[in-house]
Amino acid sequence: MARITASAYMSHVPLIGVAVDKGLTGDEYFKPLFDGFEPGREWAAANVPDVVVLVFNDHANAFGLDIVPTFALGMSETFEPADEGWGARPVPTVEGHPALAAHIAHSVIREDFDLTLVNNIPVDHGCTVPLSVMYGQPEAWPCKVIPLFVNVVQYPIPSGKRCLELGKAIRRAVDGFDEDLNVHIWGTGGMSHQLQGQRAGLINQPWDKEFFERMINDPEDLATMEHVEYVREGGSEGIELVMWLVARGAMSDLAGGHPPSEEHRHYHVPASNTAVGQLILEDPN
Ligand code: DHB
Ligand code: FE
Repeated sequence: MARITASAYMSHVPLIGVAVDKGLTGDEYFKPLFDGFEPGREWAAANVPDVVVLVFNDHANAFGLDIVPTFALGMSETFEPADEGWGARPVPTVEGHPALAAHIAHSVIREDFDLTLVNNIPVDHGCTVPLSVMYGQPEAWPCKVIPLFVNVVQYPIPSGKRCLELGKAIRRAVDGFDEDLNVHIWGTGGMSHQLQGQRAGLINQPWDKEFFERMINDPEDLATMEHVEYVREGGSEGIELVMWLVARGAMSDLAGGHPPSEEHRHYHVPASNTAVGQLILEDPN
């Protein structure tokens, strides 16, 4: 049977991808950031799953304002890196898992989550930067990836509770897939940052650090946090953090199992305009 065994959470700042692509990770500015990623990369190398369900938001590269799906699941065999204005990143094509994606879609839609199904869609930094953070610059990504797009760009966006519940439904779906697959789920975006307006540059370290604690220890309570608090405390783009709750919802403790173990945590300020966080949680065996 397929099983979700671990979750990871991390920022997806485009500049981190630039640093990897241009060989700048040892530079003075980037070194502390990438040194902090290292234990996560070691864990990732020792724990390569068959499939990652990668939760992220598109930044008007695949979806414009013409069509704004709340949750969209990538169904196809492949997903090309998006051209975000400077050409596509020189990273491998993302390979999907159509059979598991179809099963997840079937299962969660039957549980009343109205996913949009997407084929032939590019993936932007929200997806490719976390892959670079974890796996560096391989010829091919070491696992299949099912992209799950969440709208956090155009209001109204889904609540924390809805995100957490979707994660729980994804766990149930994976549990019901009749093939031996080790599946991880990643939530990306955040931490505190604001890219626009009078408060551009906002970073809130105490709030971010408390977010980690609540994410690990009391996700059901964290899921009740209103959007206005994310935006007030974490900045307008800090709202991306709501996507971490999808990954957290898929851990076994929320399905009656034991709490996950914390395998790695890293927090660094800043990369570009953003407070960077990374967290890895593993389910008990
Ligand atoms: C930055 C951060 C993001 O999350 C993003 O999507 C784009 C840019 C930044 O800090 O530059
Ligand atoms: Fe973003």
